[in-house]
Amino acid sequence: MHPNTNPFTPGAGVTPARLVGRDDLVEAFTIAVERRSLSRPANGMMVYGLRGTGKTVLLNHFASIAGEREWIVIQAEAAKNPTTSFLERLSGKLSLHLRRLAQPSVSERTKHALGAFKGFTLEVGLGHFGVGIEIDPQYLRPYTGDISLDMPDMLTTVAQALQERRGGLAIMVDELQDLPRAELSALLMSAHESNQMNAPFLLCGAGLPSLPRVLAETKSYSERLFDFARLDVLDPASARRVLVEPVEELGEKWDDAGLQYILDSAQRYPYFLQVFGKAAWDTAAMSPIGLDDAKVARSVGFDVLDQGFFLVRWERATKAERLYLRAMAVDGDGPSAVSDVATRRHTSVQSLGPTRARLISKGIVYSPTHGEIQFTVPGMATFIKRADERGW
Ligand SMILES: Nc1ncnc2c1ncn2[C@@H]1O[C@H](COP(=O)(O)OP(=O)(O)O)[C@@H](O)[C@H]1O
Ligand SMILES: [Mg+2]
Repeated sequence: MHPNTNPFTPGAGVTPARLVGRDDLVEAFTIAVERRSLSRPANGMMVYGLRGTGKTVLLNHFASIAGEREWIVIQAEAAKNPTTSFLERLSGKLSLHLRRLAQPSVSERTKHALGAFKGFTLEVGLGHFGVGIEIDPQYLRPYTGDISLDMPDMLTTVAQALQERRGGLAIMVDELQDLPRAELSALLMSAHESNQMNAPFLLCGAGLPSLPRVLAETKSYSERLFDFARLDVLDPASARRVLVEPVEELGEKWDDAGLQYILDSAQRYPYFLQVFGKAAWDTAAMSPIGLDDAKVARSVGFDVLDQGFFLVRWERATKAERLYLRAMAVDGDGPSAVSDVATRRHTSVQSLGPTRARLISKGIVYSPTHGEIQFTVPGMATFIKRADERGW
């Protein structure tokens, strides 16, 4: 069928035609925003899971929900070695919003918020972001230069000013497990402080399955400060809806055998459903999409995954790192005990430590619990076997 109208959206963070199977989380987040707008306690949401399970699109959806309720939403993606620091991006984005508030007739609270922001940027060496925010020097907040003290105060003060407009401030950080510890710690303290002050501030994050542990290790109160949601494969009915609804919306159809074949191929992973769904649409000459189309689409879909999703990670690994990954693949999708990997490599856990650390920092594997290691993408183990058969 015509590729121009193909309704499937394989990609990283590409909003699907329908966000399926996340209604409970969307509702919980909506309630949290509305409660916080009314100065009632509510937790921010932390979503975690393997790559391709739909964390980024859900976080983007949360951002739009808060935005529709007149909240200022700051979105950022954390990285291990960023070109600009998170603090700089946060200040830059906040500055754009706060400049709009900076008018001569603003309320006392807003003046304090602008003074807090300006004082903060001066103290952390980002004073250029305060330019254009004209404020009587008496409102400039004197800060310490220690972001763990200054950031919670500044963000809480800003959120309190937004409350007058029935709004609030949300910060949404993708790949949160990669945020440098000092900034992560300051953000968690901000969530904590604003919670105690009942200020309309919400911190939300998305990340790998190691995220809850990273947060707990950074601040032990994190487990009480957030609602945690693990994203995984979709339930069978939702997986079916991902394939059926966008097709029927365009007046086209699946036949039962074709649909079942694609459902089985995609194993209910959101990203895989989009890849195989797209391939099936493109393969079928006309509606309904049948079993023969689905069989071709399965092989096209696996090629797409092999050449993209899996291969980019495989190619990022050095020779030594690939040996490590092969030793993990013995356990399928895992997890693997790091001691078993070492035994298979005929060496010690310690001597493989640097290899493991590099693979973690490249985002190819993560450590689910102490002493264990696992692939960040589903299906990586079978890919490695295919890659070896093909001599990649
Ligand atoms: N709930 C959902 N319903 C339908 N498609 C989804 C859903 N969540 C994610 N997708 C699709 O899956 C793919 C991966 O989503 P993404 O948010 O980038 O995953 P992650 O951030 O977990 O790696 C995208 O192509 C997106 O369109
Ligand atoms: Mg993502």
